Amino acid sequence: MCGIVGYIGDKDVTTLLLEGLKRLEYRGYDSAGVAVLKNNSLLISKEEGKIARLEKNIPETMQKARMGIAHTRWATHGEPSQKNAHPHLDTSRKIAVVHNGIIENFSHLKKKLQGEGFTFSSDTDSEVLPNLISKYYDGNLEKAVQKALLDIEGTYGILVICEDEPDTIVTARNGSPVVLGIGETDMFIASDTSAIVAYTRNVIYLEDHEMAVVKADHYKTMHISARETTKEIHEIDWDIGKIEKNGYEHFMLKEIFEQPETIENAFRGRILLEEGISKLGGFQLSVEGLHNIKRILIIACGTSYYSGLVGEYIVEDIAGIPVEVEYASEFRYRNPIIEDSTMVLVISQSGETADTLAALREARRKGAKVYGITNVVGSTIARETDGGIYIHAGPEIGVASTKAFTSQVVALILITLAIGRRHHLSQEKAQEIIKELKGLPQKIQSVLNQSDKIQKLAEKFYDYNHALYLGRGYNYPVALEGALKLKEISYIHAEGYPAAEMKHGPIALIDENMPVIVIATASNILEKVISNIQEVKARKGQVIAIATEGNESLAEYCDEVIYVPKVLEVVSPIVNVIPLQLFAYYIAVLRGCSVDQPRNLAKSVTVE
Ligand code: M6R
Repeated sequence: MCGIVGYIGDKDVTTLLLEGLKRLEYRGYDSAGVAVLKNNSLLISKEEGKIARLEKNIPETMQKARMGIAHTRWATHGEPSQKNAHPHLDTSRKIAVVHNGIIENFSHLKKKLQGEGFTFSSDTDSEVLPNLISKYYDGNLEKAVQKALLDIEGTYGILVICEDEPDTIVTARNGSPVVLGIGETDMFIASDTSAIVAYTRNVIYLEDHEMAVVKADHYKTMHISARETTKEIHEIDWDIGKIEKNGYEHFMLKEIFEQPETIENAFRGRILLEEGISKLGGFQLSVEGLHNIKRILIIACGTSYYSGLVGEYIVEDIAGIPVEVEYASEFRYRNPIIEDSTMVLVISQSGETADTLAALREARRKGAKVYGITNVVGSTIARETDGGIYIHAGPEIGVASTKAFTSQVVALILITLAIGRRHHLSQEKAQEIIKELKGLPQKIQSVLNQSDKIQKLAEKFYDYNHALYLGRGYNYPVALEGALKLKEISYIHAEGYPAAEMKHGPIALIDENMPVIVIATASNILEKVISNIQEVKARKGQVIAIATEGNESLAEYCDEVIYVPKVLEVVSPIVNVIPLQLFAYYIAVLRGCSVDQPRNLAKSVTVE
């Protein structure tokens, strides 16, 4: 999705803004632009396509400015093109704006402004902003922005500069994140801390309907109604190394290989073996509160939804509490039933996904207490939930979510331990799970050590056009996740199914051109899965099985077998997904795809 960066201070602004934009590339974009103020004049450069192109074409005259704003655009209104790229200027070309979000009443505002003599040169909704601000501008940018925002319906994260106020950037947010970085002698503003962490770790997060007036040595924040607000300064707890590739060819590969560490980070300091419990400080639920939970409703999108599905198996099996999992995009427009004893749990890596955020707000409107599992500290979802846990996976840059999935499942196990021990879960069983969690990083490493073998397998299958992923029980959601990984980064059509469901339709697709990836690890229904494998083989399908070490007999029925260590079924999704992530990664590389930024996709989907 779109990204914004702004800077005011003594560094070379164009270089810094381009650096910041590059740090936001992972979010997905189709055009980019920069505007700087130099010698009281606005200079602007925009390009369709990659930031490298923008950088190459930046005029010499834009160097050595001390204040500016920049943007990466992910098209919503109007095709990707230079004219639709941000920053946008007002008719008098004195005010420049970058905007993330969607102005819902833009066509009404545009018509009105055109009637008043303002002109437009793009197809975007965003261009109404500079003109609206210009309409209200009478020498005070702060006031003009406030007035303009009161006319706006929709979401925004904006940066505004004006030729007449060369020492000021005005920023505001509603539904689109804005973070302000406080430097020693300068200020940074961005939609994502990744853009500014190289320069400062001290940040403040704007709330919805809040704005800031930023100068190089000073800032003030206020509600858009003009009431001043006070902000807490937060310290970012990770460093620039976390958003660099560190020798890996792609972020996705780096993030897959980080999993022994990220999994450990998710449970470190949160489990007490002797008592068989988890301690979740941010969860904010009393013993009584935990005891009163009679139903859990999990809401999420994409990979986070699939980890939620794994959570359904875990919680029902281990804690004995009924769980429903729902797509956030569906939940937000239904009339869901939420009783007092229902715990709503939203899962989001980014903490900014628009559908998940809307579902969270809908659930709260209905009186529910909503808890969250998020990765990004200070994200909107993290701040709007009543409590929750961070997975501490560090920044996930690859658009395909990998380490977040495994850490989300760990978080769901921790929550299950917390709730389960107040319900049906015995101390002994909880201790068994905790021991298994502790041994996981090593077992994950042993799967990663097979990456060469998985790469060879990818060489055999990268040219196929379809793939079917099958799993049962705990590993049915893993089949869905494996298929999502393959389709989103390699553009191969892939579907995930509960293995036994295959005979109700998908079996018609099976022939020698259909690779079928089957998760066939140890479980009480393994024999049933083996029958499903035989059904595939009987129709000449090619079977790649994920099997438990020691189960040599599977090789008799399957074309290829990847062995993974034996683990308790409750943690098996965490282990079994790793070969599927690697398989998708190597196939995408072999097909020459843009692994970290697949086409049409964005890292955090902040539009509906
Ligand atoms: O940030 P979130 O977890 O809320 O994101 C949800 C989905 O957009 C995300 O998981 C998406 O499906 C990924 N591209 C999957 O790899």
